[in-house]
Amino acid sequence: MTQKTSIYQKIKTASEAIQSRCTHDPELGRPKIGIILGSGLGALADQVTNPVILPYSEIPYFHGTAVEGHAGKMILGRIAEIPIVFLQGRFHLYEGHPMEDVVFPTRILCSLGIHTLIVTNAAGGINTRFRPADIMFIEDHLNLMGDNPLKGPHLPELGPRFPDLSEAYNKGCLEIIKSTAKNLNIPFQSGVYAGLLGPTYETPAEVRMLRTLGADAVGMSTVPETIAANHCGVKVIGISCITNLAAGLSPHPLSHAEVMEVSKGGSEKMQRLLMSVLPQLTSSKSSL
Ligand code: HPA
Repeated sequence: MTQKTSIYQKIKTASEAIQSRCTHDPELGRPKIGIILGSGLGALADQVTNPVILPYSEIPYFHGTAVEGHAGKMILGRIAEIPIVFLQGRFHLYEGHPMEDVVFPTRILCSLGIHTLIVTNAAGGINTRFRPADIMFIEDHLNLMGDNPLKGPHLPELGPRFPDLSEAYNKGCLEIIKSTAKNLNIPFQSGVYAGLLGPTYETPAEVRMLRTLGADAVGMSTVPETIAANHCGVKVIGISCITNLAAGLSPHPLSHAEVMEVSKGGSEKMQRLLMSVLPQLTSSKSSL
């Protein structure tokens, strides 16, 4: 069997296993919107009524996640009548997973039929106007991870060899989410997210370099998932919770505990925003 066939087969096997857990309500197995919950943002899934909860260990080919703040569960259910799928916990490149595994959950969501993926994360603020607990809508990204999830054999069943990323974060969705935030009086920032490998936080010199390159925020995720979803024709919305000022901008050292605490504080804002945005997101199916 070629590698190409085996990735596609794994996606099919995992998707079928997930759908077989939703036979009491098959629409749950065909969600419209996927939401990846970043560090400290897991509580957003609490809004789901009568969820089907699948620990990653029960999904074929999923790996467990061990990072604090990343629970490792798929949650299928409805919010405002819309079938939604949450990933509570993601796989990071810095954990040593190959890119293929990092984007496997994203590809599953695309295969289940979502038309839009909302990717959330915790990030450090590089733009000097940003403050901890700000929300930033991602307008574009810099892939500085030194890797790409589409590296390797072409997978025509999933998408094109050279996907266009000129609207990696869908502009129509960005307009919707910005106007919703304005209507709800939720202040927001918008800007460019730089995705780095991690797991170290940056040095102050790296943060200055990133600012020169045009980054407004920095983190260790999101870029792979965004690329994989674009590859299979799914629209992406990216939202960062700015949990800290990036290295060199703050008088104290960075810590994961601080990131978790601020992010949990910001999740109420994010929850109100998403509840209002979800019913407005509609449209085209994934090509998977
Ligand atoms: N840098 C990288 N990743 C992060 C940061 C940061 O400052 N804060 C939260 N995730």
